[in-house]
Amino acid sequence: MTPNPTAPAVRVRGLTVVYKTPMGELPAVSNVDLTLAPGTITGVVGESGSGKSTLALCLLNAVQSPGRIAAGSVEIDGLGDVVELGGEELRRARGRHVGYVFQAAQNSLNPLKTIGKQLLDLGRSHGVEDLRALVRDAKDLLARMGMDGARVLDSYQHELSGGMRQRVGIMLALVLNAKVVVLDEPTTALDMITQATILRIVREVHDERGLTTLVITHDVGAVAEVADNLAVMYGGRVVEHGPVMEVLGSPRHPYTRGLIRAIPRLSGDISLARALPGRPPTLGTLPAAGCVFRERCDRRMDVCDTVEPVPRTRDGRTVACHAVDAADADADADAGAADRTPTTARRKEYA
Ligand SMILES: Nc1ncnc2c1ncn2[C@@H]1O[C@H](COP(=O)(O)OP(=O)(O)O)[C@@H](O)[C@H]1O
Ligand code: SF4
Ligand SMILES: [Mg+2]
Repeated sequence: MTPNPTAPAVRVRGLTVVYKTPMGELPAVSNVDLTLAPGTITGVVGESGSGKSTLALCLLNAVQSPGRIAAGSVEIDGLGDVVELGGEELRRARGRHVGYVFQAAQNSLNPLKTIGKQLLDLGRSHGVEDLRALVRDAKDLLARMGMDGARVLDSYQHELSGGMRQRVGIMLALVLNAKVVVLDEPTTALDMITQATILRIVREVHDERGLTTLVITHDVGAVAEVADNLAVMYGGRVVEHGPVMEVLGSPRHPYTRGLIRAIPRLSGDISLARALPGRPPTLGTLPAAGCVFRERCDRRMDVCDTVEPVPRTRDGRTVACHAVDAADADADADAGAADRTPTTARRKEYA
């Protein structure tokens, strides 16, 4: 879709987040660069522990102890570098500029207050003057997600199912009209059909309001339906990033290929679906040098053991992999040879 020029861009640069562990401070997100183009939805996928939630928290400068942002910046148009914000400025930005659903948001509602009371608290804490309009918007959002808004607002969280609570979380993320919205696994408590419906509604609201949205999910199939771009995380790195259909249709990083091969819905043939062998690293088992994916990679080369691949962008696709670099260099050499000496190139082609 066409990016919306009034929506804010988000530029993550050189972002490193560490957690304190018995083995010292270890990075959960390492030197990540990621741009969310204005008006687009970026999906983030990757196995559990790859750093998706940690990255999402940084968009709100909300990494909690024992974690801390050790380096980098998160520039949001109209807000500045979120990493530099603190105190009251940061509190106002959360919800108002950046709407969010944290992972397991269905468990983060206040059990002692009705949803409606929590909505009003949220509105007041952000200086919303027209609270009636806020309630109207909330009911409207809930109705779109297939719920009786008035009844939900009168309910306590224990009166709602996990799926209903998740939809309440999405409503709370959208209701203050934030232009940047971060959704961390917003639909995991829902069945597949409802998941697809809710993501479609997120897409509709995103388009209507001109938002810039980040959606984290471990479901690569679901993200294809909703996102414009896809970022693939592994071991705290963004190993591949590009337009969602291109990344899913012709994955370049060996990890992305493995992820897609494991999903029959995407690989197109159940008999070909193959689980990715091995397990993702934990903070303690991440290799200190070389490529973080090498233990599980079917294209591993010597250089992968010692040199970390840097993300390189080509034709709007960003990939961090030595094998892809080598293939690109070959392709460039062939193209160069074809330009200069067509006969040699042709000879090579038919060799
Ligand atoms: N509070 C914490 N203390 C220590 N390690 C943490 C903490 N939160 C996350 N981690 C570690 O950071 C890494 C990334 O976690 P997370 O961002 O939650 O990944 P994801 O959302 O992709 O599952 C994991 O190895 C996880 O164990
Ligand atoms: S850099 Fe090497 S080990 Fe890492 S994904 Fe590429 S080929 Fe595999
Ligand atoms: Mg997570």
